[in-house]
Amino acid sequence: MSELVAVPMHLAPVDLSHASRLVNHGPTVLVSTVQAGHRNLMAAAWSMPVEFTPPRIAVVIDKSTFTREQIRATGTLALSVPCRLQADLTFTVGQVSGRDHAGEGPDKFERYGLGAWTSPLLHLPLVEGCVGWMECRVIEEAHTQDAYDTFFVEVVGAWSDPRVFAQGRWSFRDDNRDLHTLHHLGAGVFAIPSDTLQGRLLPDQGALL
Ligand SMILES: Cc1cc2nc3c(=O)[nH]c(=O)nc-3n(C[C@H](O)[C@H](O)[C@H](O)COP(=O)(O)O)c2cc1C
Repeated sequence: MSELVAVPMHLAPVDLSHASRLVNHGPTVLVSTVQAGHRNLMAAAWSMPVEFTPPRIAVVIDKSTFTREQIRATGTLALSVPCRLQADLTFTVGQVSGRDHAGEGPDKFERYGLGAWTSPLLHLPLVEGCVGWMECRVIEEAHTQDAYDTFFVEVVGAWSDPRVFAQGRWSFRDDNRDLHTLHHLGAGVFAIPSDTLQGRLLPDQGALL
């Protein structure tokens, strides 16, 4: 599968001050890497924003993964936020290791026919058909990596599919359900955020006491 080298026209850049919102609600993400031309991809349910500006995210990458080897070697990773249409691909890349084919033979993109485009700054593979994307530099924190498998990254570029994320906000509606993000319940079962509501301040009754 060929890889596009420009940001696809239909995507919108996300202001870096809004990048944390892409994962604020806890979607499963796809972590992609490239080392010496060999790409890899895995699913990660455990990620969270830890800082707005500069945008920083924590993601748990197990020691057993090939992805971790590539991250340690390159100091970079990309996050793609998959949607309802991509539940099977998300589950699959989270079940199979790229280590078996490392350096030779087809990578997971090729094995499962996944399209990709290349991030402009760090030249990382981003997964086509997702609804959010971030290219990231790893913040070197050996202790959290070794003790907790937790990698802190700084987002240096972010994009979204404006049909579902625009002006720094997700908009999950009935008419874009196929683009809703995936939330892993375990064992390959995902929930999607098909309903949203606005939280409001409770009236403070303390003044009346
Ligand atoms: C839905 C889903 C979520 C997952 N979340 C994580 C995670 O947060 N952290 C992790 O280390 N592995 C997670 N995994 C497992 C990895 O994706 C899996 O070990 C993968 O095969 C590693 O691929 P690699 O060896 O090519 O890097 C998850 C798997 C699935 C299916």
